[in-house]
Amino acid sequence: MITTRLAVPLLASLLPLTLGLPVQAAETPDKGEVEVLNWWTSGGEARALGVLKSDLADQGIGWKNMPVAGGAGTNAMAVLRSRVTSGNPPTAAQVLGFDARDWAERGGLSYLDKVAQDMKWGDIFPQPLQDFAKYKGHWIGAPFEIHSTNWVWANKALMDKLGIEQPTTWTDFLASMKKARDAGYTGLAYGGQPWQDATVFENVMLATGGPDFYRKAFIDLDDATLRSDTMIKAFNNFRELLAYRDPNSSGRDWNLATAMVINDKALYQIMGDWAKGEFINANLAPDKDYLCFRTPGTQQAVTFNSDLMIMFKTDDTQQQALQDTMARAIASPGFQIAFSNNKGSVPARMDLPADELDACAQKGYEQVQAAAKNNTLMGSMAHGYAAQAAVKNAVFDIVSAFVNSSMPGDVAAEQMAMAIQDAK
Ligand code: BGC
Repeated sequence: MITTRLAVPLLASLLPLTLGLPVQAAETPDKGEVEVLNWWTSGGEARALGVLKSDLADQGIGWKNMPVAGGAGTNAMAVLRSRVTSGNPPTAAQVLGFDARDWAERGGLSYLDKVAQDMKWGDIFPQPLQDFAKYKGHWIGAPFEIHSTNWVWANKALMDKLGIEQPTTWTDFLASMKKARDAGYTGLAYGGQPWQDATVFENVMLATGGPDFYRKAFIDLDDATLRSDTMIKAFNNFRELLAYRDPNSSGRDWNLATAMVINDKALYQIMGDWAKGEFINANLAPDKDYLCFRTPGTQQAVTFNSDLMIMFKTDDTQQQALQDTMARAIASPGFQIAFSNNKGSVPARMDLPADELDACAQKGYEQVQAAAKNNTLMGSMAHGYAAQAAVKNAVFDIVSAFVNSSMPGDVAAEQMAMAIQDAK
């Protein structure tokens, strides 16, 4: 589906990005060049990044791409650390919540306060996001978007063919995957990498115990909640869900799992809404070709993450000006909409009209806004918004050990509680 529907000129223009090659501006930029570290290497991600690149090109600014492949930024922070340690930081880097805080604590970040004040960032970004984009009263990151992780991406044609209605309960969700499996399809397209295991598990946890349970366990890191019967139940529910994977899921990249849904091999994928970027890149339409719905049982809450662009302090006045320009561009209304329309996310700004977003994003934007008001917009553990990296990595280790063995749910819950206590 992807190759037949993608326009060739578009593909050609994105090729260097999708291959992860450095992309240089065609002409020498008169206003200088920015070097930007990111992990946006899938088709949809590269296309979204292209929006920023061309926005800056329009302003005479060149682009040097510094891609570090690895979903959820699993390799990016180590590469960034080595660049910074050797005294050669890029102009800017894509980071997630607690990592942004870490970088701010080390010092060495440019403050974006002037741009933030001019554009009234304090009024337009939701508080749970400001908690990470600001550090000790200073703005340290420009938010690209809001992603949420509790989504199901579904193949509509397959649902119709198999007579499957959109499930709203966990029981119906599993029953529909069984139907697909019985008919020879994969129920759940799954990428067996630690960050993806944790992404799916946080969905199951939220569906099993609800928002208060999620918050107490993953944000407050409350030991009793981590060891509770509800957590054991969450692991047991996860075990049942895992039965609907195909046998080749180990190590699979998330976008290849998305491609299984796109290519009529699998019924669903549970994944953050960057997965929608792959459907967009394949020129598919929501409600017509695919469905997006909140993971059954998680409808009352949104687990979110947001990519923040942090900038590194520099004495070079041209680079300083470029950093301000880039921060301003990222937060501008037009960019927030255009970027999300390619990335699959919703705008990080809460003050934009929804009519230029597609059906999934309109729904998502409304849900994010409602969740921000109801205190159910909660940070994703798998994507760096629930706890610091050491705790996140401890969760990755235990959840993946559970996925890759026959570990019983009660053992997993206890091990995770212990690992979190050690790491925090
Ligand atoms: C990032 C997304 C990215 C996804 C897959 C998430 O942590 O926020 O921007 O598309 O990982 O790499």
